[in-house]
Amino acid sequence: MSNHMNSETSGKWHPVCQVEEIPPLGGRTVRTCQMEIAVFRLSDGRIRAVHNSCPHKQGPLADGIVSGDTIICPMHAWKISLESGEVLPPDSGCVKTYSAKVEDGQVLLRL
Ligand code: FES
Repeated sequence: MSNHMNSETSGKWHPVCQVEEIPPLGGRTVRTCQMEIAVFRLSDGRIRAVHNSCPHKQGPLADGIVSGDTIICPMHAWKISLESGEVLPPDSGCVKTYSAKVEDGQVLLRL
């Protein structure tokens, strides 16, 4: 009698870089599973990750500046929440977010 388990839609944790490789209040681009993901380091040390493409005109969010819990797009300065992925008013849209954690100085993303 086999016990089949459906594979979870939630992904596995993948190590992507060291925390020190992400500039404080800045981002780093990581490419994993044919996706480009922007990983950010907030002022309190939290790590957040979103798809590296602005919902406006695909600006590279990893080149933006972190301000509080938001990333400011380097192209036209849209502000995007790094918690929800939602674009802040007056603009609108959203970007996919990824779960991130740090273990022994290494950043892991759930992909
Ligand atoms: S491409 Fe990001 S604000 Fe325009």
